[in-house]
Amino acid sequence: MSMRAPAPPRSWRVLDVIRVSGGYLEDRAVENGRLNAEFLLAHVLGMDRLQLYLHFDRPLTAGELSRYKRLLRRRGAREPLQYVLGSAPYRNLELEVGPGVAIPRPETEYLIDVLKRVAGPDRIFAAAADVGTGSGCIAIALADEGIARRVVATDISPDALRVARRNARRCGQPGIEFHAGSLLEPLAGMTCDLILANPPYLTHEEWRAAEAEVREWEPSTAMVAADAGLAVIRELIAGLEGVLRPHGWVGLEVGRSQTEAVAGLLRDCAGLGEVAVHEDLAGLPRYVFAQAYGG
Ligand SMILES: C[S@@+](CC[C@H](N)C(=O)[O-])C[C@H]1O[C@@H](n2cnc3c(N)ncnc32)[C@H](O)[C@@H]1O
Repeated sequence: MSMRAPAPPRSWRVLDVIRVSGGYLEDRAVENGRLNAEFLLAHVLGMDRLQLYLHFDRPLTAGELSRYKRLLRRRGAREPLQYVLGSAPYRNLELEVGPGVAIPRPETEYLIDVLKRVAGPDRIFAAAADVGTGSGCIAIALADEGIARRVVATDISPDALRVARRNARRCGQPGIEFHAGSLLEPLAGMTCDLILANPPYLTHEEWRAAEAEVREWEPSTAMVAADAGLAVIRELIAGLEGVLRPHGWVGLEVGRSQTEAVAGLLRDCAGLGEVAVHEDLAGLPRYVFAQAYGG
């Protein structure tokens, strides 16, 4: 009688892991489960996603598998992919993000393109403010792309500011000035020729209806505002006078149903003209820009 050794445990290979865990995530209502599984596995293996496709038969070590499972469980609990990975892309940058810090969105990347269109692609601002900086994304991009010589950024959240400062250092922009406080208040006497903001603008109903990743994980102070989502925007616009220099620009990212109301608030501001609504890449109205008249 031949004594056959028991079959060795089948090792998990890249493709098996992607297939099984993509299904696991979709069962937990994660949109694009397989894509998420690929991002997580690429992160654990130190590859980019496309490299996975060249290594479908690569077996995972026990250590890799256990690290992967930890991340997969977090994503299965609907923690945002960017928090699980610890970073999010923004234009040319890769920025640290985590609980307490808003995740930069593609629409906010496009805010910078709209700025270049309205103000001219070659305009360099002497002093720019990013109000409600979150991860620091807008401020760091302004410095990184040479759009502004001096950049200040404010946020009411100490958690966000801590991360934003780290991001600025890591991105080679240690000169950005970060200030804690509400909206333009921390600027105390400074004037700017550019003010950009992606303020909180969701209504309470929109927040309640948001996907679990947003509602349960991102900070509500970063996303929601009273008064049909307009409270913070109103306050910011009310504070522009005396801060925006002649010929300076203000640009706001807002909800798609808010652009006309925000344009109205800007038109009512003494000293502002050229008020216009701009669309995002999906053709939705999302940005409102205005320019200060000459002095
Ligand atoms: C939608 S997030 C945008 C973050 C970042 N600018 C981005 O685009 O990813 C709004 C940010 O505004 C901050 N914020 C909310 N109310 C504020 C206030 N009154 N003054 C300053 N920052 C505020 C939040 O902490 C949050 O970081």
